[in-house]
Amino acid sequence: GKVCLAYSGGLDTSIILAWLLEEGYEVIAFMADIGQEEDFAAAEAKALAIGATKYVVVDVRKQFVDAVCYPAIQANAIYENVYLLGTSLARPVIAEAQIKVAEDEGCFAVSHGCTGKGNDQVRFELSFYALKPDVTVIAPWRDPVFFNRFAGRKDLLEYAEQKNIPVAQTKAKPWSTDENLAHISFEAGILEDPDVTPPKDMWKLTVDPTDAPDVPEDFTVFFEKGLPSKLVLANGKTYTEPVELFIAANALARRNGVGRVDIVENRFIGIKSRGCYETPGLTLLRSTHIDLEGLTLDREVRALRDTFVTPAYSKILYNGMYFTPEGEYVRAMIQPSQNTVNGQVRARCYKGSLHVLGRSSDTEKLYDATESSMDELEGFSPEDTSGFIAVQAIRIKKYGEAVREKGQT
Ligand code: ARG
Ligand code: SIN
Repeated sequence: GKVCLAYSGGLDTSIILAWLLEEGYEVIAFMADIGQEEDFAAAEAKALAIGATKYVVVDVRKQFVDAVCYPAIQANAIYENVYLLGTSLARPVIAEAQIKVAEDEGCFAVSHGCTGKGNDQVRFELSFYALKPDVTVIAPWRDPVFFNRFAGRKDLLEYAEQKNIPVAQTKAKPWSTDENLAHISFEAGILEDPDVTPPKDMWKLTVDPTDAPDVPEDFTVFFEKGLPSKLVLANGKTYTEPVELFIAANALARRNGVGRVDIVENRFIGIKSRGCYETPGLTLLRSTHIDLEGLTLDREVRALRDTFVTPAYSKILYNGMYFTPEGEYVRAMIQPSQNTVNGQVRARCYKGSLHVLGRSSDTEKLYDATESSMDELEGFSPEDTSGFIAVQAIRIKKYGEAVREKGQT
């Protein structure tokens, strides 16, 4: 039968490709173009040389930005207060494209090179099963026939030599990465000691903040219903099409060192893992979006969204539950919270930091400068708040009495 393998061009998935052939399968090598830096022609040549019947690359960048990254910005999605979910966001889009290729090519199975300890195996496989419930999944790193045979790196290299699989001459980087339009992740290897400071040359997408320009760079982001609709740079260059806007936001944040984080996170399967991430454009767009919500979003809508939607959706994304009933339900709750998030935020990037300079909205009138002013008595009568405080104080006075009584006994 035919198997559609998510092929990365690296050593592991090249070995998996050769091994699947040896096991008697025919292999379609699948790759998603999700904005990672990649030599697709070299990957194609390598997959075909190893023996794949066909190599298929699918450009999913637009789908990734429109369907996943933009709603994540509207929802202010974030995991454990720090991680902007760059890898998690990509998985449903890649899985969907892979299943499509598997179906078009008549494959009965899909395969991937995820390890048995991570989040990605869960994200890919739950997406596969949601999109094609009868699909067979071949996960070599969880198959004893495979992992007992390739117990160490030495076994992988020997097999590569035997199968004429070219092994990149450049010494492998001592960590593992995953890259797309939204971010790059760094994990494992020397990073497994959570107290090891990543070497300066690990970081790839962003300039080291200490090396960033000494001159701040200002820009303006416009939002319509919580979606970035226009980015205007200091030189007047303007971007509106989502993929172009996202790439321009990336470039702006990258050259100013914005978007680096380093955390120890809890993986879905229950183990802790140290990860370093660069998320330039998404950091910039998410932060300016949050700022505009301050001006334009109703207090109680915001509180409900922050209490229920943001954490629920972030967890759904992280745990690979994108194509689930709860995923569908929570996604549907994002847009209705964003109807008033219209306006613009002026902000500045400077040596790794991002600050807001000002914000405005032509259409939303929730903020009333006269009402908020410390110098104005107009709006509502100051006496009104005496009653407001008196009623609030009923309960609090009781509490105060009880505390004082206890203190005296
Ligand atoms: N820890 C991050 C996450 O679970 C990044 C995972 C990176 N995946 C990879 N195959 N290198 O989303
Ligand atoms: C992997 O284990 O394959 C990568 C890391 C992860 O999925 O969390």
